[in-house]
Amino acid sequence: MVFSFATVTMAEGGNYSDVSENAWYAEAVMALREKGIMDGVGDNRFEPDGVFTRAQLATVLYRLADKPTVSGEDSFTDTESGKWYSDAVLWASKSGIVSGYGNGLFGTNDPTTQEQLAVMLWRNAGSYILGSEYTDPSGAENSASGWAVDAVRWARVDGLLTDAVPFRPKEPATRAQVADMVYRYLQLLERFSDVDAVSGATKQAEESGKVLVACFSCTGTTEKIAGYIAGELGAATFRIIPETPYTSADLNYNDSSARAAREQNDADARPAISGTVENMDDYDVIFLGYPIWWGQAPKILYTFVESYDLSGKTIVPFCTSGSSGIGSSAANLSKSAPDATWIAGRRFSGSASLDSIREWIDGLGLELEVEKTMRLKIGETEVPVTWEDNASVAALRELLPLTIQMSMYGGFEQVGSIGQSIPRNDTQITTGYGDIVLYSGNQIVIFYGSNSWAYTRLGHVDLSQQEMASFLGTGDVSITLF
Ligand SMILES: Cc1cc2nc3c(=O)[nH]c(=O)nc-3n(C[C@H](O)[C@H](O)[C@H](O)COP(=O)(O)O)c2cc1C
Repeated sequence: MVFSFATVTMAEGGNYSDVSENAWYAEAVMALREKGIMDGVGDNRFEPDGVFTRAQLATVLYRLADKPTVSGEDSFTDTESGKWYSDAVLWASKSGIVSGYGNGLFGTNDPTTQEQLAVMLWRNAGSYILGSEYTDPSGAENSASGWAVDAVRWARVDGLLTDAVPFRPKEPATRAQVADMVYRYLQLLERFSDVDAVSGATKQAEESGKVLVACFSCTGTTEKIAGYIAGELGAATFRIIPETPYTSADLNYNDSSARAAREQNDADARPAISGTVENMDDYDVIFLGYPIWWGQAPKILYTFVESYDLSGKTIVPFCTSGSSGIGSSAANLSKSAPDATWIAGRRFSGSASLDSIREWIDGLGLELEVEKTMRLKIGETEVPVTWEDNASVAALRELLPLTIQMSMYGGFEQVGSIGQSIPRNDTQITTGYGDIVLYSGNQIVIFYGSNSWAYTRLGHVDLSQQEMASFLGTGDVSITLF
């Protein structure tokens, strides 16, 4: 795999006194110093041949992840809280990136071996197990410990191993090797991206674009995030539905013979999709969502991107996962639509807030065509809503901003008066939690339970039953439409 390294501006103060400008690791060392990811050892020295402890590596990965806030304590007996490495090790162990030696020890001050370095980066990328087509009898992984083989193979295939020095899995990694490999990993993450995911620099799209939000979701997690994005942008949505649905046995990630595992390990697998986006030509920007499966996008995403001519379109990948980052999943998927512009993607947890999604969209620096939409606050909290496309909603928009005092009713809803009548088209429906309806032409009802009556649908709050009950089931609220 070929890498093109970006030109690096030297940090102020120039190079380290012990890093020659022509050294094979010089660019990596300076880039990581500039990004604040890996420091020298003091006195303007980098100590390229020195060792790098496991706690230091956890710290580097923590910085790479933008130092998320953590709470609690790790379960290792050789780490201490309140130290320079504590948050990093806690984060890395919670994220499954470090697991220690299995006897309660993390090995805080032990030198990181070269295979441990590969394993930690591999886990950071989502622990993807490459298929058998990537085996190479002379590959670096063949001298690795059993638990490190998949990681070293991945590191080799994805171009993380330098030719400048031999990779000796069980020997300590030098600081120069750590810098080089971490830098290559960073390049891997950014390879297909126009956005510097680490520094947060953004790219401005040349034209404003009409947006489609497409997603694949087996258990609803990614679909929820897709709903937030579509709601925020007033965008059209497309759900990638497999022709043959995945059963829970198909999705058992502990079973290497289950359908999901077989497909992910088969480079040619392209599970069929039921339905198509008829008017793909209309869209300029596609937000493309998927769950992480073994660090990668499910193969049905490859079916999707290969089904259309996406040249000239901008694709914004996003994913959800148990803990893995988006890693190389979007970069790999992008190879199936190389003529599209791929923006650096983002991983969300299932509990990501609407605010965090809005912030992300704003930070993308894309000029998106946002359909005029309507937003809803319950009390002081804004909630994500998908609105119906009908005359009642259009009429409601004309009344904005609108604050309505609601009252609890029947143990399943809150109801309040709009203050005037708007167009209605009532039909007998059975509502569910989250539904927003027009009742009697002049009242808004929001449900946290269910009822059957003649209503006009207005929209749906995209939250769980529990969340709806906590908003509406404990006392009268006021709502604001704006
Ligand atoms: C087959 C399979 C493989 C998975 N692999 C990973 C993984 O490598 N890393 C991870 O953090 N989560 C993994 N997960 C968890 C999913 O990424 C996570 O539950 C996701 O949010 C599900 O999204 P969905 O509800 O939209 O399908 C895996 C789940 C399945 C079913």
